[in-house]
Amino acid sequence: MSYKILEKEEIAPSVHRMNIDAPDVAKAAKAGQFIILRIDETGERIPLTIADFDPEAGTVAIIFQEMGKTTKQLATLGAGDVLEDFVGPLGTPADVRKLGTVILVGGGVGVAPIYPQAKAYTEAGNKVISIIGARNEELLILEKEMGEASSELYIATDDGSKGHHGFVTDIMKNILDSDEKVDRVVIVGPPIMMKVGAGVAAPYDVEILVSLNSIMVDGTGMCGGCRVTVGGETKFTCVDGPEFDAREVDFIQLMNRLSMYRGEEAEATEEYEHKCRCGLH
Ligand code: FAD
Ligand code: FES
Ligand code: MG
Repeated sequence: MSYKILEKEEIAPSVHRMNIDAPDVAKAAKAGQFIILRIDETGERIPLTIADFDPEAGTVAIIFQEMGKTTKQLATLGAGDVLEDFVGPLGTPADVRKLGTVILVGGGVGVAPIYPQAKAYTEAGNKVISIIGARNEELLILEKEMGEASSELYIATDDGSKGHHGFVTDIMKNILDSDEKVDRVVIVGPPIMMKVGAGVAAPYDVEILVSLNSIMVDGTGMCGGCRVTVGGETKFTCVDGPEFDAREVDFIQLMNRLSMYRGEEAEATEEYEHKCRCGLH
């Protein structure tokens, strides 16, 4: 089976949004889940969050940042091209229900997984306070969509080009210090941001969830590639997660495992870019 790319847009430098024709995935998808795609039969499998889905139109949106070989190759495709595999929805859906007030924190492309959650928490009757951030204004994604899906939206940039000059976690701390009674905090972004954010929120009487981005291969609990330690127990991010209690996650192990194949990844990217320069693709 093949999956057609219906639309493609560069929403920030080297960050792309694609709408894929995938009716079965769109019908079953829930906030917090992801897909695993393969560009062609020789390609590697990579996980990407379901950034939006429309069961009626049968479409699923993905948002990805160019990192290495596979995401760079994906970025060269456009409307009309097809993907070999687009498997999903995978993972346990986010535990969305009526809680009261929920803070959603997203950094970088971590705003993509936060968006369907903002819609779902709002639909479930919660007050949703979203905080999104990026290194600078140009790299900020989904500002308009997040504004529409949230009760309140705050923005932070590392260089102060938009919103608060500093980190998303500064804004989160201010809200936790205020009179606002917060029932849950969800943080999604680079592992270091989730680790720091979890540390900042830990002293407060609030539930803290993070969505982990471990290396995945099969996405079905068979290969063990995505294993993480949560509360002293081994969990598989692809089936037990990707959402976990932040206070229990061993972030150092997660970060070490994510950098395990840096040498091979750099080699694959270099080889791919060399072939591109020589016109071999
Ligand atoms: P490479 O050069 O191969 O790798 C760059 C870095 O990406 C690696 O150092 C490693 O940390 C990570 N990575 C590499 N291979 C994998 C893999 N098979 N699985 C997971 N991480 C890997 N990225 C987005 O831009 N948007 C998303 O919505 C998104 N959602 C994700 C959801 C989940 C559940 C997970 C686990 C990851 C998600 N990622 C997302 C990360 C994305 O999968 C990696 O950026 C991508 O696999 C990099 O592939 P590459 O070949 O381009 O880069
Ligand atoms: Fe293989 Fe999770 S990706 S066990
Ligand atoms: Mg790769």
